[in-house]
Amino acid sequence: MNASVIAGRPPSSSSGPSGAEPSNIATRVSALAERFKEFRTSPRPEVVTDTAVQRWLLELDELGKLVTEGSAADLGPHAASVDNLKLAARTATEKLLQLPWLSAETQRGLQGYLERNPAYRQIGPYRFSSDWMSKCEADWRNVLTPWVNRPELKALEIGSFEGRSAIWLLENVLTHPESRIVCADLFDGPYAKVFDENIAATGQAHRVEKLVGPSGHVLRRLPPEPVFDFIYVDGSHRPFDVLEDAVLSWRLLRPNGLMVFDDYGMAGAQLAAFANIDRPDIGIDAFLSAAAHQLEVVLKGFQIIVRKKT
Ligand SMILES: C[S@@+](CC[C@H](N)C(=O)[O-])C[C@H]1O[C@@H](n2cnc3c(N)ncnc32)[C@H](O)[C@@H]1O
Repeated sequence: MNASVIAGRPPSSSSGPSGAEPSNIATRVSALAERFKEFRTSPRPEVVTDTAVQRWLLELDELGKLVTEGSAADLGPHAASVDNLKLAARTATEKLLQLPWLSAETQRGLQGYLERNPAYRQIGPYRFSSDWMSKCEADWRNVLTPWVNRPELKALEIGSFEGRSAIWLLENVLTHPESRIVCADLFDGPYAKVFDENIAATGQAHRVEKLVGPSGHVLRRLPPEPVFDFIYVDGSHRPFDVLEDAVLSWRLLRPNGLMVFDDYGMAGAQLAAFANIDRPDIGIDAFLSAAAHQLEVVLKGFQIIVRKKT
């Protein structure tokens, strides 16, 4: 996850519920993301000056007052929510705080932004810093409804972060006490504790298995048996990693099983500088070509959903 998510897609002409023009918000989000990208590209005192950072922060604060769920969604499915924009802004602010030449006043300003914008939002018994789930909820409901409460349904998720999508599956599809989900993730940051707490809060931790480490390693250790009905590929977004995740987990998918790839449309929502790094679509397209005769494409949009042929 990086600050490029605040780049959004080209502005739309509709007006958000706050009355603020989304096109205006999109332009401002893009400008702030662009300026931060300049800071990251040239992290030198003569480029990342106190004045430049303080101005960036001021604009970030002003933008924060304008963005609503509606206008965030209008920036495209990759930005998708106020939480995601805030996460990107917080990540950028934390990176700037690491620059040793910034004055105490600028550092206080950056710190103040972090304090005014808490990392987590409490949603029922869970806390999340982001929301990559809401954007796909309607499609998942459409496709997965026939499986709701089915006994012994088994899901594999590659990339679980704080557990939001895994919890959605547990609450909406994997509702039968005999259903299970395996969550593979690096689990290498503070989000790992949040994942554990969130999963504990479901009361269903006994139906969740964690696989810790790079998916390229952990998937190779699973017996090559087709035991999963549903596989969500949402881990590393590097093209080769996505291709590897797809290939390694395809053999684990049952005939008629579904594989979902997130962020197929992400390249269109990225600023150019990041476009050749986080390009899941390149890996997904390679997989779709190679496995064309073994699958049927169920949905092709910001996400891709395929069904394994029998
Ligand atoms: C976008 S987040 C997943 C979001 C989650 N599916 C949701 O919707 O709530 C991507 C996750 O992939 C994990 N990840 C990145 N590279 C990985 C790798 N090589 N192997 C396993 N997990 C990885 C990150 O640690 C992060 O938690």
